[in-house]
Amino acid sequence: MSRTLIRGGLVITASDEMHADVLIEDGRIAALAASGTPAARAFTADRTIDATGKYVVPGGVDAHTHMELPFGGTFASDTFETGTRAAAWGGTTTIVDFAVQSVGHSLREGLDAWHAKAEGNCAVDYAFHMIVSDVNAETLKEMDLLVEEGVTSFKQFMAYPGVFYSDDGQILRAMQRSAENGGLIMMHAENGIAIDVLVEQALARGETGPRHHGEVRKALLEAEATHRAIRLAQVAGAPLYVVHVSATEAVAELARARDEGLNVFGETCPQYLFLSTDNLAEPDFEGAKYVCSTPLRPKEHQAALWRGLRTNDLQVVSTDHCPFCFTGQKELGRGDFSKIPNGLPGVENRMDLLHQAVVDGHISRRRWIEIACATPARMFGLYPKKGTIAPGADADVVIYDPGAEQVISAGTHHMNVDYSAYEGKRVTGRVETVLSRGVPVLTEREYTGRAGHGVYTPRATCQYLT
Ligand code: URP
Ligand code: ZN
Ligand code: ZN
Ligand code: ZN
Repeated sequence: MSRTLIRGGLVITASDEMHADVLIEDGRIAALAASGTPAARAFTADRTIDATGKYVVPGGVDAHTHMELPFGGTFASDTFETGTRAAAWGGTTTIVDFAVQSVGHSLREGLDAWHAKAEGNCAVDYAFHMIVSDVNAETLKEMDLLVEEGVTSFKQFMAYPGVFYSDDGQILRAMQRSAENGGLIMMHAENGIAIDVLVEQALARGETGPRHHGEVRKALLEAEATHRAIRLAQVAGAPLYVVHVSATEAVAELARARDEGLNVFGETCPQYLFLSTDNLAEPDFEGAKYVCSTPLRPKEHQAALWRGLRTNDLQVVSTDHCPFCFTGQKELGRGDFSKIPNGLPGVENRMDLLHQAVVDGHISRRRWIEIACATPARMFGLYPKKGTIAPGADADVVIYDPGAEQVISAGTHHMNVDYSAYEGKRVTGRVETVLSRGVPVLTEREYTGRAGHGVYTPRATCQYLT
């Protein structure tokens, strides 16, 4: 039996903060005891990590990534190998990535393809959601089987007609099915039919640059789709999780639905909390670096997102990590913003940016862990294996130095992408050491992990349903 002891740190979970020693046995948390007490002094181990002056927090759970996603004629530039290694550097020890059903093919084929991409390549543990692009009788039956085998959430798109898009009837059918089989529908809520009209009109007026991406994908069309998704879920009697919420008006729809007692949940992402349309307007096509959907919004929207995170109208912060290099990939959209591949890198930056939100006074330390670790784990059926530090949990643990200063930069990051969306941003706090099931994958800022350490982790159904 291998034993590791983490001594003297401040253990922070979603519910507690305590100076405690953490004993790890065979990849799991075996016991915690208040530091300095006889119980803690009785712990013995093969290896001791001194965490004095540091935080000891659960490994991050990033419930929204797209490694190697095919999009806009190219592929997201992080593979499962490079993307999960970058995740480890940033203190994230579990990702939930999106397997894709292509139109005309089965869910099974899509899921098998994603397993093949990930297996043997991941530095940290991983699980899958399923993107449903083609709702039909067969697909609906397959959803039941996937729920049984641990793929318990399904993303649908009200945007991207002709690619991932589902119409309201297809959405309703999938929601009805998930009401029966316990699955959770994750919605990309933007009115893609209306947006495509505005895209065509903008291009016809010669408005071709990246900032027009933000202008045509209107906040009202996010709010309208959010409202429609909520009411369709209500009719179906199904829970709903809205991904990458960016608009004040969409948060208001979620808040209203929750006040009505509906099982409706919302996620936002660091890019919406820290970046804005000012970035999309950067000259020399640099704005293309910030093209994602839902789009970045004017700065004024950030306050509503922070407020939603405080009031629990938004429950999760994921990255929607979907990197495309500026050179050769984002550049596909020079002269036509609608051809810029949609997505931003960020899997490595989430834990630090949210710690900065603690430093800035937006959220408490425990809320940091709640929105980044515990709630995503519960939302997607991984708790308490993932998302907390408690006896029996996987020993996915981050030793975090809350006082370290760093500057985020593509020059030092580990994601396979040639720019950083947060280039030059100073943040206080840094991941020092990361354990994944007790195995050090980052040791005092030195990478000690390996491709293939990370394993596929089947999930239970959403743990928040009433
Ligand atoms: O722009 C984004 N978000 N790209 C990834 C695909 C999606 O819609 O989540
Ligand atoms: Zn096929
Ligand atoms: Zn989306
Ligand atoms: Zn996404």
